[in-house]
Amino acid sequence: MEAAVLATALGLLLLAGAGGSAGDEAREAAAVRALVARLLGPGPAANFLVSVERSLAAESGSDTYSLSGGGEAPVRVRGSTGVAAAAGLHRYLRDFCGCQVAWSSSQLHLPWPLPEVPEELTEATPNRYRYYQNVCTQSYSFVWWDWARWEQEIDWMALNGINLALAWNGQEAIWQRVYLALGLNQSEINEYFTGPTFLAWERMGNLHTWGGPLSRFWHLKQLHLQHQILYRMRSFGMTPVLPAFAGHVPKAITRVFPHANVTQLGSWGHFNCSYSCSLLLAPEDPIFSIIGSLFLRELTKEFGTDHIYGADTFNEMQPPSSEPSYLAAATAAVYEAMTKVDPHAVWLLQGWLFQHQPEFWGPAQIRAVLHAVPQGRLLVLDLFAESQPVYLHTASFYGQPFIWCMLHNFGGNHGLFGALEAVNRGPESARRFPNSTMVGTGIVPEGIGQNEVVYALMAELGWRKDPVPDLEAWVTSFAAQRYGVSQPNAEAAWRLLLRSVYNCSGEDCRGHNRSPLVRRPSLQLNTMVWYNRSDVFEAWRLLLKAAPNLTTSPAFRYDLLDVTRQAVQELVSLYYEEARTAYLKHKSRPLFRAGGILAYELLPALDEVLASDSRFLLGSWLEQARTMAGSEAEAYFYEQNSRYQLTLWGPEGNILDYANKQLSGLVADYYQPRWGLFLETLVDSLAQGIPFQQRKFDEKAFQLEQAFVLSKRRYSSQPQGDTIDLVGKIFLKYSPRGLAGFL
Ligand SMILES: *[C@@H]1O[C@H](CO)[C@@H](O)[C@H](O)[C@H]1NC(C)=O
Ligand SMILES: *[C@@H]1O[C@H](CO)[C@@H](O)[C@H](O)[C@H]1NC(C)=O
Ligand SMILES: *[C@@H]1O[C@H](CO)[C@@H](O)[C@H](O)[C@H]1NC(C)=O
Ligand SMILES: *[C@@H]1O[C@H](CO)[C@@H](O)[C@H](O)[C@H]1NC(C)=O
Ligand SMILES: *[C@@H]1O[C@H](CO)[C@@H](O)[C@H](O)[C@H]1NC(C)=O
Ligand SMILES: *[C@@H]1O[C@H](CO)[C@@H](O)[C@H](O)[C@H]1NC(C)=O
Ligand SMILES: *[C@@H]1O[C@H](CO)[C@@H](O)[C@H](O)[C@H]1NC(C)=O
Repeated sequence: MEAAVLATALGLLLLAGAGGSAGDEAREAAAVRALVARLLGPGPAANFLVSVERSLAAESGSDTYSLSGGGEAPVRVRGSTGVAAAAGLHRYLRDFCGCQVAWSSSQLHLPWPLPEVPEELTEATPNRYRYYQNVCTQSYSFVWWDWARWEQEIDWMALNGINLALAWNGQEAIWQRVYLALGLNQSEINEYFTGPTFLAWERMGNLHTWGGPLSRFWHLKQLHLQHQILYRMRSFGMTPVLPAFAGHVPKAITRVFPHANVTQLGSWGHFNCSYSCSLLLAPEDPIFSIIGSLFLRELTKEFGTDHIYGADTFNEMQPPSSEPSYLAAATAAVYEAMTKVDPHAVWLLQGWLFQHQPEFWGPAQIRAVLHAVPQGRLLVLDLFAESQPVYLHTASFYGQPFIWCMLHNFGGNHGLFGALEAVNRGPESARRFPNSTMVGTGIVPEGIGQNEVVYALMAELGWRKDPVPDLEAWVTSFAAQRYGVSQPNAEAAWRLLLRSVYNCSGEDCRGHNRSPLVRRPSLQLNTMVWYNRSDVFEAWRLLLKAAPNLTTSPAFRYDLLDVTRQAVQELVSLYYEEARTAYLKHKSRPLFRAGGILAYELLPALDEVLASDSRFLLGSWLEQARTMAGSEAEAYFYEQNSRYQLTLWGPEGNILDYANKQLSGLVADYYQPRWGLFLETLVDSLAQGIPFQQRKFDEKAFQLEQAFVLSKRRYSSQPQGDTIDLVGKIFLKYSPRGLAGFL
């Protein structure tokens, strides 16, 4: 019975992305061979024989790889698609060679001779789709990437078996053509687009104008990049998801079409209506389908299509009516504009809205949206399934197929965090749910480049039928793969991290590990964490102890620094609590001691140690922004876009510190001065006998924050100093166990 329900749901869906000729097989195999050469170098690559054979999937009906050979013979990697072959290669490198591929650095020391696969190992994934990306990832992490960085990421995707992902670059260039064709002029278009670091929210109708406009040079670069991205994704046999019209229009549409029936939506993210309150076109207005199909026709003419399109009409936006008939019409209009151009269209919808505003989205509202599109033609991302799965209370999305997604990260924050137990069990439970319509797993963080262990587990689950049986054993091998050797102290450190920061459960795990360090100070900051801080300090000690054995491992140096950063984050909370208690009890001396250490010693020491690694430099990120620019003025503009996103987010601190990062440069010139100001304000308040006034402090803090955003100070993208020495110094000085603990 369950299989029958799922089959109906999927009947239509499976149309998309099927097919494949001998030519496709050869092309995908060639793409994987090129990946092997990029990853391992041409010499070692010669020991791998890669082929793509669709027939491998005949038995299971899903993507399959098969491994054999090694030892005296070459390693044979076969896959039913290029992605499946790449996933098979990754499995071999990880489980047979003890290697690891990761964002911060990959550990690819191959044993020689290559380990033998004793008997042919064939693995079929239980997931039709392995999806990657949140609409926000494009803005928080990918915004300044050039082709070299994209190429690395698409390789990472292929190796992790991802076969469905957004390809959303360059869409504004297409919109610009469409708007011009409709009769808008350039200044009206410029007024509408946001700047590069805020495009994700323009694309979902949350924002317009803020941080814009986009330059001609930007459009050209993005178009070019998008062609490269699509070509590479397709050559692996991945399905790129293109954007479609969701219903939001620029204000100037009403000049060109004075009778257009538009509704102004409410404001978003504490922005006023100069930047939010988007206009939504009424579904019954005939120009809805004209604009929607013009866009899709122009887009697919430029980029081709793989028939899956993403669009989000009501993401964090309250619809103008909760009438199911209205919601169904608004949904059907989006879908019909797609099928007018592409009869095979499948709509990929981020299901975030349903759990973000549960008071609005009752069963009747959700059902109206889900049933406005034919069964199997709407593919829903259960976006935050590790924490608040929607499939559970919608009888598996009322029969529409869905992808179980792990969101994990908000805003690209660095704080160590993970709910590994929930992640590990989640996909299997969803698959076993009665009449489940789950068709895949997804990795959908708002920002990447943090907490790599969480992503390694989720990617592995994309190809597993069952949860990992023993997470302690799993994380121990993870550490060994990461550093290329089994080092007992380092492995013990990882087990401590697993049971503390990475074992969040229940209410505590709505998202973050944000410390007072990255918040605007006040007397009310929350310092609660769900774990025992001693575990972090102990992991820190153990990593430092392992350092002499692992100095040459780039991944180890990254982790040592990252855990040091985390330990400092914990210390900031402890010193803050001490200073606050001292202030509230009016004893100024202990206040000055704890606050002084926090603001004038610990934060400068953190900045100094972060400065020793290019992966923790504000300068590296801003340099990428500048490199995208066609002129000095544009470089400054991009840099400012980035600085806004990292700090104030909007002109007035509208989403203050949401996308905070702990990078050298930000710590010294943004967080530190703010904490210094706070401490001085408290000391003055005691000296003068006047109470601390938060509002007054906030005004002064805003001046500092804004000065940082507008500053033209350049930051180095070259690391300085030795991480291990600097970590040792901080440890000896500040660790609760200090010198005694280390010996
Ligand atoms: C664009 O149209 C608006 C509204 O008609 C007008 O005020 C503006 O001058 C025009 N801009 C250009 C560059 O034509
Ligand atoms: C919105 O805020 C900006 C700056 O924060 C201000 O310049 C603008 O006048 C405001 N617009 C409205 C409609 O209040
Ligand atoms: C405009 O659109 C709304 C929402 O779809 C609809 O209720 C209303 O009747 C429309 N108005 C006109 C004049 O067509
Ligand atoms: C599963 O679907 C079948 C057929 O539609 C239905 O009879 C059955 O009640 C469903 N089971 C659950 C638990 O919803
Ligand atoms: C995580 O915490 C739960 C209790 O909340 C516990 O049962 C489980 O063993 C812990 N897992 C690890 C790996 O420490
Ligand atoms: C935290 O861990 C330390 C060291 O293992 C232990 O002494 C302490 O009791 C723990 N605290 C709590 C609240 O469990
Ligand atoms: C660490 O390195 C030291 C010498 O540098 C060596 O004596 C020791 O055996 C190594 N320990 C491990 C666990 O690899």
